[in-house]
Amino acid sequence: MGTRKEVLVSKEDIKKQKEIICRIADLNKDRCPKFYIETYGCQMNVHDSEKLAGMLSDMGYINTDNIEDADVILFNTCCVREHAEIRVFGRVSQLKELKLRRPNITLGICGCMMQEKEIVEKIKKNYPYVDIVFGTHNLFKFPELLLESLNSDTTIIDIWDDNKNIVEDIPIQRAEGLKAWVNIIYGCNNFCTYCIVPYVRGREKSRKPEDILDEVKSLAKEGFKEITLLGQNVNSYGNDLSEKVDFADLLYMLNDVDGIKRIRFMTSHPKDISDKLIYAMKDLDKVCEHLHLPVQSGSNRILKKMNRKYTKERYLEIVDKLRENVPECAITTDIIVGFPGETEEDFEETLDLVKRVRYDAAYTFIYSKRTGTPAAKMENQVEENVKHERLERLINLQNSISLERNSEMNGKIVEVLVEGKSKRDSDKLTGRTRTNKIVHFKAKPELIGKFADVKITDTKAWTMQGELL
Ligand code: SAH
Ligand code: SF4
Ligand code: F3S
Repeated sequence: MGTRKEVLVSKEDIKKQKEIICRIADLNKDRCPKFYIETYGCQMNVHDSEKLAGMLSDMGYINTDNIEDADVILFNTCCVREHAEIRVFGRVSQLKELKLRRPNITLGICGCMMQEKEIVEKIKKNYPYVDIVFGTHNLFKFPELLLESLNSDTTIIDIWDDNKNIVEDIPIQRAEGLKAWVNIIYGCNNFCTYCIVPYVRGREKSRKPEDILDEVKSLAKEGFKEITLLGQNVNSYGNDLSEKVDFADLLYMLNDVDGIKRIRFMTSHPKDISDKLIYAMKDLDKVCEHLHLPVQSGSNRILKKMNRKYTKERYLEIVDKLRENVPECAITTDIIVGFPGETEEDFEETLDLVKRVRYDAAYTFIYSKRTGTPAAKMENQVEENVKHERLERLINLQNSISLERNSEMNGKIVEVLVEGKSKRDSDKLTGRTRTNKIVHFKAKPELIGKFADVKITDTKAWTMQGELL
């Protein structure tokens, strides 16, 4: 086994996995084996882990939070920044001792990092006690790889370069019963020069609208109230399909599903935001007033070097149009500091843009060099201490803006979906507004899973306190 340029998955391939799931379930029938999954990275990975959990559960394994108890351990990895990779290797090293103590456990590593050839080589060389290595394109094949590993002493490695098909019908064990992630498009065609995602997740592939609709209808039947549509770039949904359907059309279709009360989506690329989408957000009652719109930088010079395909002016035009049509909309973003060649002036343009947009929240990152991406080879890499200093200035600015924006909510009445008990304060519950803000308030646990009106009484940069009405 090894890397293969696999492109097509046949019906037989999929049928085979179902048969293997039954075979392993049969082997496990008088035992109670457990699985443990550790997930790194974005919501795409979180949702992939729900699929791995679904397959494991159908094979008779039960979920555990205690790695010491597990018979199957999986690390679902991310490689978007170097830091995430270092953490995974640290964790895998720690497991050597556990594997020596309990040689029969199965240790698997999967996800985006495994799509990098050097990483797989490093595992082969330095971590021979790993049992299974697979990537993002053949996740559906996990049952077959697990069975093979149960009958083998060597590391089973299976990585595909891409996968032209979307495999439907993978069992999914969702982490909770209220809010669900739903994939609508896989992969990315954008090749921002800093980003490794297109190399590890392949080209854009949209799911058929009828498959998405069926999934959302069955989620509604199971009692889910909120869905979040997932894709690296949801706005290019449909571009690769033969039928004429775009992301806004999909929102119109899903808005009609009875039982679903809130629709969210992420992530949106500014270059593909259409007026039609903004009008859909305005029109559709279930589509929540929140847009995550990563800007990355406020300098046109840097945006060009990043290959983002929009200017600061175009970005601000979108923000203005959105605010005009959906005035209460929360806007959040991602920003990278210290991209190669970023000068103090470029960085100040980012600060200016942040002040102009007044984001509700921003996820801020220090540029991390990713081997194989064009930016890694660019000259004028910014020094570490400068990157850290810029990050701190950016975070301080954004925190003060988040605080200001949230304080505008004081005294207002908002509808929240009650998600559970507050972790900090045991007699409080936690809910989320349509604008995706967290509110803590005193109420009885019977309210969990329901909608409630809450008056905001106190606000901080990330959370708010309220009173149940
Ligand atoms: N597809 C999404 C998210 C991709 S990864 C999008 O385009 O918005 C999430 C975020 O990680 C990106 O928005 C970017 O801000 C950050 N990121 C990606 N590559 C990075 C790198 N090499 N260094 C630092 N941050 C990075
Ligand atoms: Fe990466 Fe850009 Fe694609 Fe987002 S749009 S995943 S940042 S290449
Ligand atoms: Fe990381 Fe892969 Fe997501 S690289 S950010 S887990 S798509």
